[in-house]
Amino acid sequence: MSFDRLARPYRLLETLAFGNALQRARTFWIDKIPSPKRALIVGEGNGRFLCELLCTHPKIDIDCVDASERMLDLARTRVRETCIEFQERVRFFHEDVLTWSPSASYDLLVTHFFLDCFPPEEVKQIVQKLGYAAASDAIWLIADFAIPSSQVAGMHARLWLRGMYSFFQITAGIKVKQLVDPTSCLCEMGFVRTASQVFRAGMLKSHVYQRGDNVRLASALTTDSR
Ligand SMILES: C[S@@+](CC[C@H](N)C(=O)[O-])C[C@H]1O[C@@H](n2cnc3c(N)ncnc32)[C@H](O)[C@@H]1O
Repeated sequence: MSFDRLARPYRLLETLAFGNALQRARTFWIDKIPSPKRALIVGEGNGRFLCELLCTHPKIDIDCVDASERMLDLARTRVRETCIEFQERVRFFHEDVLTWSPSASYDLLVTHFFLDCFPPEEVKQIVQKLGYAAASDAIWLIADFAIPSSQVAGMHARLWLRGMYSFFQITAGIKVKQLVDPTSCLCEMGFVRTASQVFRAGMLKSHVYQRGDNVRLASALTTDSR
């Protein structure tokens, strides 16, 4: 799997397909979580989320892992152009998360539109690996696609997802054909979903998972933020 070919057109394709909805899903919880000290973003892509996180939490240190050198280049450039004062706070790793070993402990993990690129056994492997690198009270933010429960919205989402998976199979070489729900793997690693926000009639979801006894964001939001 490689997103190198898609790195440049990614932003345009995203905007054509979803307007700003994906970015709203990515960033929805940024200013609502307690200030993190050290974050790990895996599969960051072109750096749009990264820059928002840096600007909102200027004291944060961030490790950013992506298997695409071109995506990382875009992310580096975006940091230089939009928040250069914080660039020393970011370390970029050109790595495949399946073989990379985290060497720090993180109180924030972020995997936006990432786990849906992997088959169930790899989702489990990734969640376990990141879970072991998470602090005892860590927060894990996950924005991803979802199938809404209502019949019409569900059918609409299924059609979109079928199209998107076919597109990413051809252009990026991803092997999966359908969404994998990571909730049970996250649960096994001690993460509980504490809040969710849905967008686009439930086709996009932005979740907060949290570990530890002191779960701070207790209320699950279920309003549709179009
Ligand atoms: C669908 S894109 C999502 C990008 C971005 N997080 C977003 O919200 O749109 C998946 C990203 O994960 C990266 N990626 C795919 N497989 C990876 C792997 N095994 N290890 C690390 N990064 C990977 C890709 O290069 C790409 O940047």
